[in-house]
This record gives sequence, C-alpha cells and structure tokens, in this order.
Amino acid sequence: MKILVLKSSGNKKGSSNMLADEFIRGATENGHEIVEFDVFRANIRPCIGCGRCGMNGPCVQKDDYETTLKGLIKGTDMIVFVMPVYYFNWPAQLKTVVDRFYSYNDELTSMKKKTALISAAWDSSDTVFAVVEAFYRQLCDYVAFQDQGTVLGKGCGTPDMTRESPFMGKAYELGKSV
Ligand SMILES: Cc1cc2nc3c(=O)[nH]c(=O)nc-3n(C[C@H](O)[C@H](O)[C@H](O)COP(=O)(O)O)c2cc1C
Repeated sequence: MKILVLKSSGNKKGSSNMLADEFIRGATENGHEIVEFDVFRANIRPCIGCGRCGMNGPCVQKDDYETTLKGLIKGTDMIVFVMPVYYFNWPAQLKTVVDRFYSYNDELTSMKKKTALISAAWDSSDTVFAVVEAFYRQLCDYVAFQDQGTVLGKGCGTPDMTRESPFMGKAYELGKSV
C-alpha cells in the first residue's frame, strides 16, 4: 500500500524523524511504497474559516496544501502523523494540516484511511502524551481513520536519548506490522 509520512519537526535529523525513519525502514522491508512530506518546510497556511469550501470544495488558499498535500492525502492508503510534543500537544504545523481537512471533510471521512501516530517528548512521565493521544483518538473517531498503532516516545528529548531508547525498535516493529 501507499503510506504518506507527514514529518513536522524543524529538526530534520531530530528525534521524531528518527522514529519515523525506523517506521519507514520496517514498512519498506514489507514492500510498501513510502511518500514523505515535510509539513514544517511547506507553505501551508492556517484555515481562515471563511466557509467558502462548504466543507466540500476547493480551498480559496492556493498554497502547498491545496496544490500538493491534499492530493497526496487523497491518494494514499495510510497517513503517519509524526511530531515532537510541544506544550503537551501537537505542534502547530501539523495541527494546521488537520484544520485544512475542513474543505473535504466528508470526502476524507468516506475514504476510511489507515493512520498511525509517532511522537517524541523530552519528559518520561506517563502523562506527557495525554493530550496528543486524546486528540489523535478523537480525530480518528470523527473522520473514520483506522488507527494502526502508535509510538509514543517518552524520554526522547534528543537524538542521543532517542537512539538509546526502546522506541526505535517499537517504531520499526510498527512499520513491520502494517
Ligand atoms: C516549543 C517546544 C515545546 C516543547 N514542549 C514539550 C512538552 O510539553 N513536553 C515534553 O516532554 N517535551 C517538550 N518539548 C521537547 C520536545 O518535544 C523534544 O525535545 C522532542 O524530542 C523534539 O523532537 P524533534 O527532535 O523531532 O524536534 C518541547 C520543545 C519545544 C521546542
């Protein structure tokens, strides 16, 4: 299947992307086709809430979302959301991508895409991903995403911490499992 990996960190070789690359390694070994898209470096504007799309039409903003990413999302079988934790939540760049689902919300819902969540946080407390995961689960419920698994890398604050963590292996295993 086609798998779209949405990376969202400013750190190209940072912790969340390291975990994503392990997922990609496993999924590639299984014969899946991977498309990577760097949300952080794309020109994607926030939804302006104008309602001109009527939740079912083109967005008035002709940026990288409308011209490129929307087509990639529609054409993929699975989306992997990759992110650092920012103040207990999704980073703004990736949340902006979700907000832009608005212009084709019903169409996207009807597609029942497979999804996964990969995240890195500095803290190793059990609650550090509470909001990140709650939003993901609510989103899956709302737009009929079929969750295939999560890798919640607590204690993954730097590349060195992440390399030594058990989450590299977990990300690889998730890639092998899809
Ligand atoms: C703006 C900002 C907010 C952050 N907020 C949190 C947080 O709430 N909890 C946490 O554990 N780490 C937090 N961190 C640390 C990062 O999540 C952590 O270092 C992560 O490994 C960075 O991933 P990256 O290398 O993929 O960018 C924050 C970092 C930044 C820059």
